[in-house]
Amino acid sequence: MTPRAASPLLLGIESSCDETAAAVVNAEGHVLADVVASQIALHAPYGGVVPELAARAHLESISQVVAAALKALPRAGAELDAVAVTTGPGLVGALVTGVEFAKAFAFARDLPVVAVNHLEAHLLAVHLRRDADTSDLGYPYVGLLASGGHTALYRVDAPDRIVLLGQTRDDAAGEAYDKVAKLLGLGYPGGPAIDALAARGDPRAVELPRPMLGKKGLEFSFSGLKTAVARHVERRGAPADEQALADLCASFQRVMVDALAGRAVAACEQVGVEDLVLAGGVAANTGLRARAQELCAAACLRLHIPPIASCTDNAAMIAYTGALAFARGERADDQGLQVYSRDPARRRGRFRPDGTLIPHR
Ligand code: KG4
Ligand code: ZN
Repeated sequence: MTPRAASPLLLGIESSCDETAAAVVNAEGHVLADVVASQIALHAPYGGVVPELAARAHLESISQVVAAALKALPRAGAELDAVAVTTGPGLVGALVTGVEFAKAFAFARDLPVVAVNHLEAHLLAVHLRRDADTSDLGYPYVGLLASGGHTALYRVDAPDRIVLLGQTRDDAAGEAYDKVAKLLGLGYPGGPAIDALAARGDPRAVELPRPMLGKKGLEFSFSGLKTAVARHVERRGAPADEQALADLCASFQRVMVDALAGRAVAACEQVGVEDLVLAGGVAANTGLRARAQELCAAACLRLHIPPIASCTDNAAMIAYTGALAFARGERADDQGLQVYSRDPARRRGRFRPDGTLIPHR
């Protein structure tokens, strides 16, 4: 299968955590379809993602999600150039559903498969649906990726040249939000609930320790802050009223966003890059957006924040990252993923030389 001269069009599939998603996107970041089936309600009673439940829910919804995304195509999938799928990092049982679906779909349509790293996709999602805020962005830029599973700073020199600058030593930022929210009885996911309460609270009401205070470098640490909130509640009891709850949330959020935005700006200064991109679910946080804006203005940096749909887990970012990789000639089978292919050169193991499938024993 030779890539087209025009921008390749890919189906993207994402199932690494608790969203089952499919999208159709080209290598210019034009989004034809972007479908997300969220499992938030399923995991809410547990205060976090339950891996086994996530895997089953992906299996139940993936066919419908892909079918919904394909409706955007004028002719049933004929013009797709490849299928991109998240191969990691993520929950193993969750990932395998997307990967196996992508392999089977690609075999049925005789399309190549492109393997996509979920974190790289988050960092490139800023190029989707480019508007006035993001259209002037080129490479390099610094990406702050803050989600439920990851918190790290990267220098993005090109789509295939991404360098890790520093990451959290313990909890991810979203994880800290979710754990503090659970402690305060605010439900799951905790980020949006704390964010909303923080807007009504006094950020100086409760003194909380600043993570990594006085430590140079670009690492984060959030578990001490989470423990400090737990200690505060143990000593003083649960917040007595709505205002006390809002004050505690605002105090927690202030320390979180100062750490995130402060280190992100320090990273830009350290590597001499003038563009900062926020990525991941925590980039939806209003406090983080405002603080990053303030610090970037003071440091003469340009801040780029993708729309929320591009920040949280989605398949458009997977399809886009896959489309760029596809255009560079990357194929999942060259990277060790066993694909089912009609092309003998790309076939691995499971087919007889005449092309018939070798059944499982
Ligand atoms: O990127 P994402 O959708 O999923 C992954 O973890 O990959 O991020 C989800 C995380 C959750 O921890 C959630 O609490 C957090 O992002 N989050 C927020 C906000 N919205 C979502 N955290 C702080 N403020 C928000 N407004
Ligand atoms: Zn993610």
